[in-house]
Amino acid sequence: MLLNQGRTILSIPGPSVIPDRVLLAAHRASPNIYEGELVDLVDGIHQDLKHLAQTTGDVAIYPTNGHGAWEAALRNTLVPGDKIVVMANGFFAKRWGAIAEAVGLEVLYITQSMDEWADPQRLADVLSEEKNRSVKAVLIVHAETSSSVCNDVAALRAAIDRSGHDALFMVDCIASLGCDRFEMDKWKVDVAISASQKGLMTPIGLSFVFFNGKAYASGRRANPGPFWNWEKRARSDGFYDRFHGTASAHHLFSLREALNMIVREEGIEAVWRRHKVLAEAVWAALDAWSEGGDLRMNVSNPARRATGVTTVNTAPGVGAKIRRWCEAEAGVTLGNSLGFPAEEVGDHFRIGHMGHLNLHMILGVLSCMEAAMVAQGISHGDGAINAAANAVADNLRALNTIPVC
Ligand SMILES: Cc1ncc(COP(=O)(O)O)c(C=O)c1O
Repeated sequence: MLLNQGRTILSIPGPSVIPDRVLLAAHRASPNIYEGELVDLVDGIHQDLKHLAQTTGDVAIYPTNGHGAWEAALRNTLVPGDKIVVMANGFFAKRWGAIAEAVGLEVLYITQSMDEWADPQRLADVLSEEKNRSVKAVLIVHAETSSSVCNDVAALRAAIDRSGHDALFMVDCIASLGCDRFEMDKWKVDVAISASQKGLMTPIGLSFVFFNGKAYASGRRANPGPFWNWEKRARSDGFYDRFHGTASAHHLFSLREALNMIVREEGIEAVWRRHKVLAEAVWAALDAWSEGGDLRMNVSNPARRATGVTTVNTAPGVGAKIRRWCEAEAGVTLGNSLGFPAEEVGDHFRIGHMGHLNLHMILGVLSCMEAAMVAQGISHGDGAINAAANAVADNLRALNTIPVC
């Protein structure tokens, strides 16, 4: 281990790199939790979160990870015995479905393979076969972090509408919020859930459930219990009620700073564009490596790829060798295989490229991967780093942002 000194980088699809500003925002003494700055902060946080999700609906904040938000969304809208459909084309969609089963819902899975887009036509067909229109909700994951497929939210919504079902449309945008374009109201999403540790660049442990009037009304049938109940968290005037107890003060300070960076300084359109440009650099490198090489992207169609994560499939064992070398020698941690068969654990890995990222971070990660392949005699096509640089230059030229010297 000669080389692995210096600052390490976590290049997994969440938790993502936390900006120093966001870390430092929490580096302070506990504040007054009854009045003053902390209390005043929360309206602005709600406002900026809603802007990020592109909704005029409500948002409830939970001191939990994404699993908590999954459960909150279900418990606030549905009752045991309700029938729902899960578009199951990856690890996280199936896991959300398993949680739905655990809370007593009847789950109908539309199962597809890990490299497939959740097919709107299959959804329309399944819903049309349900003659008595009894499906109460359709669940999808926008950016499926296991496979790096980005599902087409608007097309899936249109499929529900075509079928004549009144089902709620619930979207997990845990790996897409602050990375991929996501427009809750325009795409007629009824419930959207997210979490702090990915595009939001904030420590793990806060999650968010956005809901519109239709979802709120369906909540009258439900009994979520006091902790999960979204009404007070979203709508109460009382600070204590909004957090159902002591607020996660330091987390909120960090989140405030992250939202300053994303919403108020860079701007959401620019954030989406940056993710796209950096993702295209990653994809260009992978296209080059895969020419005669031992690895290729899981999602072949660029229009179906998430911009915050890329899943790579390799010859047997090669994925594990690249990951191990990068971590041990280069201080780069790549994401593991998730959702593929257990016997293929060494044959897949994921590159996280979400959140607080710039070009030197991405090119650094790609160059370390190249070094891992060269050092271990893994076959790969040539010119990957050059291809990544060209992809960036082409994009900047197209966006007219190359500075004139
Ligand atoms: C798309 C997606 N949904 C849900 C989750 C679960 O979130 P958490 O691990 O915070 O509970 C993750 C986590 O990686 C995810 O990527």
